[in-house]
Amino acid sequence: MSDPPLIRVLSAEEAKQRVDALAEVLMDCVEGGASVSFMAPLSAERARAFWQGVAAGVAAGDRILLVAEEPGSGELLGTVQVVFAQPENQPHRADIAKMLVHRRARRRGVGAALMREAEAAARRAGKTVLVLDTVTGGDAERLYTRLGWKRCGVIPNYALWPKGGFCDTTVFYKEVSDA
Ligand SMILES: CC(C)(COP(=O)(O)OP(=O)(O)OC[C@H]1O[C@@H](n2cnc3c(N)ncnc32)[C@H](O)[C@@H]1OP(=O)(O)O)[C@@H](O)C(=O)NCCC(=O)NCCS
Repeated sequence: MSDPPLIRVLSAEEAKQRVDALAEVLMDCVEGGASVSFMAPLSAERARAFWQGVAAGVAAGDRILLVAEEPGSGELLGTVQVVFAQPENQPHRADIAKMLVHRRARRRGVGAALMREAEAAARRAGKTVLVLDTVTGGDAERLYTRLGWKRCGVIPNYALWPKGGFCDTTVFYKEVSDA
């Protein structure tokens, strides 16, 4: 049995320091067929550029970056973001984005632990309505449903799989004010 993952909020400086490890998780997910904004093959350079942008967003205060680490070794197992940058009439809302768990760390509760902490971080920041979307019928859809997220509906042909072909997307929301 593995120990439970350690979930941490990264500072902007820590995010910059962990760009390579974050890129490795993203590349692994894309290589594994996850539809998470990128087409395959995803180069290390493009993956690192993405995470450098995320680190800049953390520095600007428009998002929170959480990571799951292996206790002891500190190996990066997964990550998720709470994104605040919203129109001025939605100061209470945030998006949950880029929930990614390395294939070798899946099915041991890392995704669930990341989401619980992301929700807690959003609540601490005063956010009460959270929104996300995910590939219809995938592992993530089951995860979010299990954690109490409400399913709004499906948008057909919303995105592409990393190696081509359309995939549908399911939109979810969760109210976290009284959770
Ligand atoms: C979706 C994703 C984040 C889930 O991460 P995960 O760490 O495997 O999630 P969990 O371990 O919390 O749950 C996954 C499954 O493992 C099961 N599980 C959790 N802990 C377990 C344990 N200790 N032993 C056995 N099974 C366990 C859960 O019940 C769940 O089962 P189900 O899929 O049959 O419903 C991961 O598959 C992923 O990164 N996918 C690719 C990227 C992606 O699509 N992200 C979503 C973008 S919106």
